[in-house]
Amino acid sequence: MGSLFNTLRPTGLTMSIDLRGKVVLITGVTHGIGEATGRLLRQLGATVYGVGRDEARGRALEREVGIVFRRVDLTRRQEVLDFIRWFEGEVGVIHALINNASRNSRYSILNTTLEEWDSMIELNLTAPFLLSQMAARLMISKGVKGKIINVAAIQAYFPLESSFPYVTTKGGLIAMTRSIHIFQSPNLTIKHREILKLEAQGCYPLDILGEKLHLRV
Ligand SMILES: NC(=O)c1ccc[n+]([C@@H]2O[C@H](COP(=O)([O-])OP(=O)(O)OC[C@H]3O[C@@H](n4cnc5c(N)ncnc54)[C@H](OP(=O)(O)O)[C@@H]3O)[C@@H](O)[C@H]2O)c1
Repeated sequence: MGSLFNTLRPTGLTMSIDLRGKVVLITGVTHGIGEATGRLLRQLGATVYGVGRDEARGRALEREVGIVFRRVDLTRRQEVLDFIRWFEGEVGVIHALINNASRNSRYSILNTTLEEWDSMIELNLTAPFLLSQMAARLMISKGVKGKIINVAAIQAYFPLESSFPYVTTKGGLIAMTRSIHIFQSPNLTIKHREILKLEAQGCYPLDILGEKLHLRV
């Protein structure tokens, strides 16, 4: 880990952020945006819990940067429920949840199978719903002014024809976020961030997350 008081310049912007004492849960921490975000948040002092399926990558992140990894297949509802029970019992507090995990689903309306449909519903809607519910309940019960970030996709507005299950569920995720957002609680702030393009892995998550976490957590 680097300095706890970091001065970062991702896109010409300078931010000093100290997240010591904050607990963040990230889904899809093993690769891509989730990994870059987890590394960054560790660097800024947060305690980071991350889930994914790639056990080797998860254990490597534990060793390298101290992310606490749990192997969870988010398409398997029982695994998600077991993880939630574990998190509530063993951790019991959360300042930010980042529902980031997803995957491509290259099917059109014509060839999407029911199995693929169900898998994407579980991954992009059911898991974010269950984890958001857990986070909201914990934040409210512990009096934490926290944040839930659902990572959507611009394809929800500008779909590719061969991404039918992905587009549909990401659109649902945006609607779910808006629906949660109108639930008023003094301790809860729900935002939805749409990732348009991954400009430079490692910098872009800071651009979208750092400022918000800085202000709100
Ligand atoms: N990259 C882009 O340009 C872009 C554009 C629009 C939206 N997004 C959104 O940004 C988010 C991150 O994208 P990315 O490009 O960083 O993706 P990525 O590199 O493919 O990483 C996806 C992550 O999700 C996890 N994941 C996938 N299926 C899972 C499952 N069943 N259970 C648990 N974890 C699972 C993966 O973990 P394991 O491999 O360990 O299972 C991995 O850590 C996604 O929500 C994506 O839709 C990205």
